[in-house]
Amino acid sequence: MINEKVRRMELSGIRKMFEMATEDTINLGLGQPDFNPPEDVVDHYRKAMLDGYNGYGSSYGLPALREEIARHQSKYRSDITSDNVMVNVGATQALRIVMESTVCRGDEVLYPEPGFVLYSPQTRIAGAKPVPYPVLQRDDFIPSVDKLEELRTPDTKAIIVNSPGNPTGGVITKKAVKEITEWAVDNDILIISDEVYEMMVYDGDHISFLGDHDNVIAINSFSKTFAMTGWRIGFMVTRSDWIKEIGKLHYYTVACPPTPPQHAILYALKERIDFVEEMTRTFKKRRDVIVSRLNDINGFDCLTPKGAFYVFPTIDLNISSDKFAFMLLEKGVLATPGNAFGSVGEGHIRFSYANSTKNIHRAMDILEDTVEEIL
Ligand SMILES: Cc1ncc(COP(=O)(O)O)c(C=O)c1O
Repeated sequence: MINEKVRRMELSGIRKMFEMATEDTINLGLGQPDFNPPEDVVDHYRKAMLDGYNGYGSSYGLPALREEIARHQSKYRSDITSDNVMVNVGATQALRIVMESTVCRGDEVLYPEPGFVLYSPQTRIAGAKPVPYPVLQRDDFIPSVDKLEELRTPDTKAIIVNSPGNPTGGVITKKAVKEITEWAVDNDILIISDEVYEMMVYDGDHISFLGDHDNVIAINSFSKTFAMTGWRIGFMVTRSDWIKEIGKLHYYTVACPPTPPQHAILYALKERIDFVEEMTRTFKKRRDVIVSRLNDINGFDCLTPKGAFYVFPTIDLNISSDKFAFMLLEKGVLATPGNAFGSVGEGHIRFSYANSTKNIHRAMDILEDTVEEIL
């Protein structure tokens, strides 16, 4: 009784690899920080439950949390208030209801390739056609407006952008944000901007698409920021009239986001921003280690990513990225083949550096041995 739409869906390539890993595998496949949220934040979660915050809350999210999010986001656009914010069940659910609320059958949605695995399936689930646009190493993994214009048709309704980027670690420039925004305004295209790695930028600042343009929906999350991927709290920021409209779907989908973690996150946003700053400093050190090790290995070419916690080197060894990732997995290192992020990712492999420096070195030693075997 399962319908064709679901039957035809592919299981994400990342999940497939995950399921093959054993306990001893060095996991550089992780899309989540290898940290725990700060203990006092966890205490606030527990306290919220003990204080009786166990019931349904506002569908849009805890009012005080929406206000605090608005305060943070107003650095990108000064008129943002809590009316522009909705708290969601992770960025995943935020994106799901945004797609469902904005695009229809016959519409085309441009999305980055290589890109996060949700974009194409979620576009399809909403009935629209996903159209990949390339983000290439030679362009620092930044989208090119000329390419977007080439791919634009009268049916292009929306573009999904993602900076800092998964899987590339690419960070968009002010100039590119301006050019893409102008192009979107000229062509009446909605910008859906996935900014979940907003706080993890190593060099320079995060440039948000939440500028002066009104037709932008920013998708965000606390999953990575406070190392709480399992708490499932994300949010979106957009026009208040759109929050009201999308809010209907939000209510009919989840009723409301979970109540206790929102209390803990409110505390974290007010008191523990130092946590993400410290975690980002640690990631930066690991980034430097993994980039330098990779560039010393035959056949690998790795850009220094400016954000998130992934490297996305090219492999030039006459072997598919799938096959190479499986060889590595057999030797005890989990990484994600580039084509799991779309066919443009072929020839790359993604390593997450959400693992200790010691494990990164061990994994790079194994990688070196594997390459020697191939050569
Ligand atoms: C770019 C990007 N967007 C969205 C998500 C989903 O985040 P959440 O845990 O908030 O659903 C991820 C998770 O890996 C991601 O990498």
